[in-house]
Amino acid sequence: MAKLKIYEYPHPILKQKAEPVAKVDDELRKFLDDMLETMYVADGVGLAAPQVGVSKRIVVIDVSHPDEGEERAPMFLVNPEIIWHSEEQSCQFEGCLSVPEQRAEVDRYVQVRVHYHDYNGKEQEVLADGLLAIALQHEIDHLDGILYIDRISRLKRQMLLKKLQKLRQEEEK
Ligand code: NI
Repeated sequence: MAKLKIYEYPHPILKQKAEPVAKVDDELRKFLDDMLETMYVADGVGLAAPQVGVSKRIVVIDVSHPDEGEERAPMFLVNPEIIWHSEEQSCQFEGCLSVPEQRAEVDRYVQVRVHYHDYNGKEQEVLADGLLAIALQHEIDHLDGILYIDRISRLKRQMLLKKLQKLRQEEEK
């Protein structure tokens, strides 16, 4: 497995609408493995293909807690689509590997049902709530060129981007 480069805001690939995947084959599975490895190394709970420079509708997610003795539970989602969501929303802190070390509260649906193809290309559906529901909405947004900072107020976004700029300036020193 190979660790991939993570593209950060404001790279233009993060604003693009990603293309559907035609077929799940060995080459794609290798890419899925690399994405998962990259996400684990970066200590993230989700990663979308555009974040590693590939504008395809592919997401990996793992919301397990191995630090609390849980087994790892990776999910591979090819062409994921939200087919139902609850009316109810909640507001929780989110972060993103493409917007390093920042967090903000984002409104998301409490429950979502997602249709996708898995690691073997098989059709699957998942009904999710909690952190998984948030991760699914966040990652599927990436496939449509939307970052969580696009879903917060303009003032909060400006403050967050200012902090990001400061962080990068400090890193350059
Ligand atoms: Ni993200």
